[in-house]
Amino acid sequence: MNRRELLSLLRSTDPAVVSELTEEAGRVRDQSVGKAVYLRGLVEFSSYCRRGCTYCGINCANSRITRYRMTDAEILGCAEAIQSYAIGTVVLQSGEDSFFTGPKMATIISAIKERTGIAITLSLGERPAADLKLWREAGADRYLLRFETSDQKLFSKIHPPATIPLPGRIEQLQLLRELGYEVGSGIMTGFPGQTCASATDDLLLFQSLDLDMIGIGPYVPHPGTPMADEIGDITSDDQLPNTLATAYKIVALTRILCPSINMPCTTALRTIDPAGYREGLKAGCNVIMPNVTPLDYSERYDIYPGKKRVAQFEQALDLVEKDVTDAGCFVASGAGASRHYRERSGR
Ligand code: 5AD
Repeated sequence: MNRRELLSLLRSTDPAVVSELTEEAGRVRDQSVGKAVYLRGLVEFSSYCRRGCTYCGINCANSRITRYRMTDAEILGCAEAIQSYAIGTVVLQSGEDSFFTGPKMATIISAIKERTGIAITLSLGERPAADLKLWREAGADRYLLRFETSDQKLFSKIHPPATIPLPGRIEQLQLLRELGYEVGSGIMTGFPGQTCASATDDLLLFQSLDLDMIGIGPYVPHPGTPMADEIGDITSDDQLPNTLATAYKIVALTRILCPSINMPCTTALRTIDPAGYREGLKAGCNVIMPNVTPLDYSERYDIYPGKKRVAQFEQALDLVEKDVTDAGCFVASGAGASRHYRERSGR
């Protein structure tokens, strides 16, 4: 598919386009990576953040939330719980919290590795090269850093004030790759100012970055953030709609363009669509990330409203299992590195 074709698919409002693309993406997923769905246990260990991202509820300017940090022992406890449920990966996510310095994170990473041996994915935002290297050496396997949009002007606008321009983020993705990480990126879909044209470029950038993992989630307005106040001001007639159809279309196109990646059914997708796991899998996803953060913390990890959690983790896993089965897939155990990574790194 060339740029023109992609753009016309994104601009189309025909529901048949969505169903055809999701069906095709499901077939591509089955052929390239199969029906195995890998689980990752998500630990949201700190809601402190130094950044002022205009869309995000835990941005540093939001004084209405109470911030928290989990202790090393609590984080380790979550990793052990994940292992006890036979889930092969822990995802450590936080705001950009300088309390967790390079060496402090490295200690946590090596302790998890030593005690559990499970794969470790980091999602800690933009960090200095020295830290990324240290963490890799300490045993981190993967790193997630969404570029959010390929439109440089838009990127700067939504990431004030000490704007690190888009090229810096792309450089970090390249550095992660050189350090031997399995590299993930992604975008939000349908936020104010994002156009169909720029989303087309996002898809092409996914391809050219040669990513191992791609996460795509619909934008969920968070009251009190600058972006939520902007929704009424949308002026471009090429605005990418903030709809489920659009989110699924972009998920499906991503699978078709990047067949051997790992792609999660994102929490945001599940937030705006109760059937988000099942439908995401049908549209080409192959990963689900159940949240293992203790509930009282998770409620305060308020990047957007409406995150759905069931109190009992066993119950959450049962629901995941059912969604996976309903989508015609099966839950696989193990670390589940992406086929893309295994092939490019010869592992
Ligand atoms: N809606 C949807 N996704 C969001 N994220 C942050 N804020 C929002 C929001 N309001 C996503 C960003 C970030 C990831 C951790 O969460 O894409 O990369």
